[in-house]
Amino acid sequence: MSRRFPEGFLLGAATSAQQIEGGAREGGRGESVWDRFASVPGNVEDGSTPEVACDHFHRWREDVGLLREIGANAYRFSIGWSRVLPEGRGAPNTAGLDFYDALVDGLLAAGITPFATLNHWDLPQALDERGGWGSRATVPAFLDFTDVVTARLGDRVKHWVTHNEPWCIATLGYEEGRHAPGRRDPAEALRVSHHLLLSHGRALPVVRANAPGARVGIVLILTPAEPAGPGEADRDAARRLDGSFNRWYLEPLYRARYPGDVIADRVRRGHLESTELPFVQPGDLETIATPTDFLGVNYYSRAVVKAGPGGEPVGVPQGPPEERTEMGWEVHPAGLTDVLVRLAREYGPRAILVTESGAAFPDAVDGAGHVADPRRVEYLRGHFEAALDAIEAGVPLEGFFVWSLLDNFEWGQGYRPRFGLYHVDFATQRRTAKDSARYFREFAAAQAAPGVPSSLSTRRLT
Ligand code: FCB
Repeated sequence: MSRRFPEGFLLGAATSAQQIEGGAREGGRGESVWDRFASVPGNVEDGSTPEVACDHFHRWREDVGLLREIGANAYRFSIGWSRVLPEGRGAPNTAGLDFYDALVDGLLAAGITPFATLNHWDLPQALDERGGWGSRATVPAFLDFTDVVTARLGDRVKHWVTHNEPWCIATLGYEEGRHAPGRRDPAEALRVSHHLLLSHGRALPVVRANAPGARVGIVLILTPAEPAGPGEADRDAARRLDGSFNRWYLEPLYRARYPGDVIADRVRRGHLESTELPFVQPGDLETIATPTDFLGVNYYSRAVVKAGPGGEPVGVPQGPPEERTEMGWEVHPAGLTDVLVRLAREYGPRAILVTESGAAFPDAVDGAGHVADPRRVEYLRGHFEAALDAIEAGVPLEGFFVWSLLDNFEWGQGYRPRFGLYHVDFATQRRTAKDSARYFREFAAAQAAPGVPSSLSTRRLT
């Protein structure tokens, strides 16, 4: 390998609390919207729940060991909201805070930088019952959570993310009903997106006060939208997708405004009565546009779209099905470079980190206890190269987290899609390094010390 990431680059793996912890009813934890949603038959494809997941709640020491084993210098994880505030508000659950306190100390002792996300989708059920993200009252509730967590961990955790992928919460959770809390109300979903962004802006000074010297940002899922054909209709479909998926979040965060073309689309579709946004109060947009220290980008694929009957974007799958991932997503590393270069040029964040990128394949442990996952190795190689291309093009990229450390609870798809560098046997909780974990280790070692012999790649991990 000839190219390397810059000095100080954070290279690690990512997880989230709801997807790996389990221990759903232990240590004083309260119910989350995902616990409730998954308990309703039909909501999760394989009928599973996150109640046990990877049992990380009990096995976190072993999992920190895995991060060490692959040479990760940073770990992105999230704080379970209902583990800390079981009823959403009121007295914090000390045992919950103790759990994250010990995890942070364990990471630091292992030389791994903790990179914490506050909200990775696991709103306490009690807050949903008071209106959830559709209610402006959830904004101060998020600030309470932020305050409690950063007051406890802010002396040691110096990288904070407010929200993970507000698009997924608003659109999948409140417009399409495919994620918790399972609502299907486009007008509510718009309000939700605004309350998420507003709470992000208001949380920034809270984090900065409690965690001196910390860097804080938000994580967006960004997907380049490309027209399937050259015609005007397909180009407009791509504009619409880019608008609702990418620019609906980037414009308020970096330009203190919502994109007018998306507002017009929503009025046309009857989701708004007029171009006045009823949920935006004076000062909100300025708060949302408070400068951050970095933008986190989750990148999985691009979207190639044609115009549907009403002009709406309809995805056109690219390449043969067998080349797509288990999620049906095209592997397209160049899209990562495109997204990063566009961000740097058009929005100019102070710094950018790839906070998630990865792929699901049907991995299995063979008779010899080995997991061969050549397609994930190729995926990672391609996306690391794409990130390096972006840096060469001048993008201030400062980190890359692979999704994910472990196979885990993949939301509405349950345990079928396996994204981990480590295979998890959910019956025994045994973790087995996939070849991609060895590849990561070799790659990380070469970052730290160029010229490390490639024989490292054949060394066995657990
Ligand atoms: C992202 C989520 C993450 C994981 C990956 C596959 O949208 O942030 O939790 O589910 O997708």
